[in-house]
Amino acid sequence: MIAEPRFKLRIRAAQRSSAALAALVASCALASSATGSDPADSPPTFTEHVAPIIFRNCASCHRPGEIGPFPLLAYPDVRRRARQIAEVTESKFMPPWHAELGHVEFLSPRVLSEQQIATLRRWFEAGAPEGDPKKLPKPPEFPEGWQLGKPDLVLKMDRPFQLYAEGKDVYRNFVFPLNLPEDKWVRAVEFRPSARSIVHHALFFLDTTGAAREADAAEPEPGFQEKGRLTLRFTPVGGWAVGSNVRVLPEGLAYRYPKDADFVVQTHFHPSGKVEEEQTTIGLYFADQPPKRSFVGIQLPPAFGEISGLDIPAGESHYVVRDAFTLPVEVEAFSVAPHAHYLGKTLTMKARFSDGREQVLLRIPEWDFAWQEQYGFKQRVTLPKGTRLETELVYDNSADNPRNPTSPPVRVRWGPMSTDEMGSITLHVVAAREEDTAVLEEALKDHIADLVIDRALQRPRGNQIVKAMLLRFDRNGDGDIDAEERPELRNFIKNQGWLPGGLNNSF
Ligand code: HEC
Repeated sequence: MIAEPRFKLRIRAAQRSSAALAALVASCALASSATGSDPADSPPTFTEHVAPIIFRNCASCHRPGEIGPFPLLAYPDVRRRARQIAEVTESKFMPPWHAELGHVEFLSPRVLSEQQIATLRRWFEAGAPEGDPKKLPKPPEFPEGWQLGKPDLVLKMDRPFQLYAEGKDVYRNFVFPLNLPEDKWVRAVEFRPSARSIVHHALFFLDTTGAAREADAAEPEPGFQEKGRLTLRFTPVGGWAVGSNVRVLPEGLAYRYPKDADFVVQTHFHPSGKVEEEQTTIGLYFADQPPKRSFVGIQLPPAFGEISGLDIPAGESHYVVRDAFTLPVEVEAFSVAPHAHYLGKTLTMKARFSDGREQVLLRIPEWDFAWQEQYGFKQRVTLPKGTRLETELVYDNSADNPRNPTSPPVRVRWGPMSTDEMGSITLHVVAAREEDTAVLEEALKDHIADLVIDRALQRPRGNQIVKAMLLRFDRNGDGDIDAEERPELRNFIKNQGWLPGGLNNSF
């Protein structure tokens, strides 16, 4: 049976809000005694105090045609929900933001200050007064059409895909032939779903094998369903998640699109209760010249955890996956992107410096599958050679996890469906010296090869043929592949093309 996770979440948001309210009452009391003036003397009004908060922090999603379930623009819209707004902002359910603050500073975090939250609460308690209409700030303007101006290339689905009103979430891959006359460098992609309310997120890939076209042609409906982990053979080139419109790479960086590539979009749909049609449009923005600098995605564990032996027993509430990688060169990190499915609970990536100090790069205390976000750093973070990057992913497969899609819980292993699990955190970096990029990429491949070796040797019932093949490199015959024997075996594995695809430059 598939539970409705969103319904349960709301209950939890309401429960959390009562604790938050108690804390808030305490903090208000403190604030008023400190300033000596009772803030309740002058209740906040919509036009003067509330509209600026809502316009700035809520309206981007809560407006017609956007992901928010209702608009929050005009006074009547906001007044009608004054109580709910006070509750969801106190519980931190809204605005949606999942990364813990206080570590590395993020680019534009979606968070309200405690003071803004208190204003929304006091406004509700004062009866949600409108105030002087002359004080209403200008409603926010959202550019119609393309956010970055006219794209260099526009891709559009040739016919709409119809999604049923109710049922399981759907993953569907759509193929857009690029027909590029030559290799191109792409600095930004704007993804524009036509049915915003059903599109949760989308991943972008490049396919130079023709396999995506073939799979598309084999199904009568537009696009094709993921089979045999096809997309893992494609090159990932970013994605789109609710709350973000355009992903522009930092200054001077770009993705290479080979001239024979097809653009593939894997869209995750969540049915809305009525039949809807999606016909996506995509705008590509080319860079004028090849970038001078390359970037690398350090994904830990690699391949979204495919080779980490993820296998979560039914009912297990604290299942941990770890991975670590020591930087062979100095890098500058500019963003970080976590990924997991419904059972992900706490996701952390830390940098441990050679002097023992540690720095949290990302911590998601309460993972929410709906928000596959990429978190940009306000300033690049320098990580010297020898820094160890450590990720820890904690999963909750118990019945107490309100997001658990299966009730009662079942054993969950690695896989592409949302009821399977995956997990990784990808740190996007530029090598401090461009010529070090190749060293970093090679070290990442070695890391993956090591995981493949360890996993093959550890599994008692693993593939015996593979195991026997690997043990051919066990020169001293001790039944293990030790440090001296590794390099040769790593090279063998890399040359066989055994590494899961799309490991670098993955956004
Ligand atoms: C990045 C997009 C985004 C922003 C910004 C945002 N919301 Fe939302 N909001 C949503 C989505 C999506 C939902 C539906 C969530 C769900 O049902 O799981 C939602 C739901 C809500 C709900 C209904 C909650 C419930 O339990 O049904 C309220 C109330 C709300 N938002 C208020 C706000 C307020 C107030 C702000 C600004 C302080 C805000 N939102 C900012 C996307 C956003």
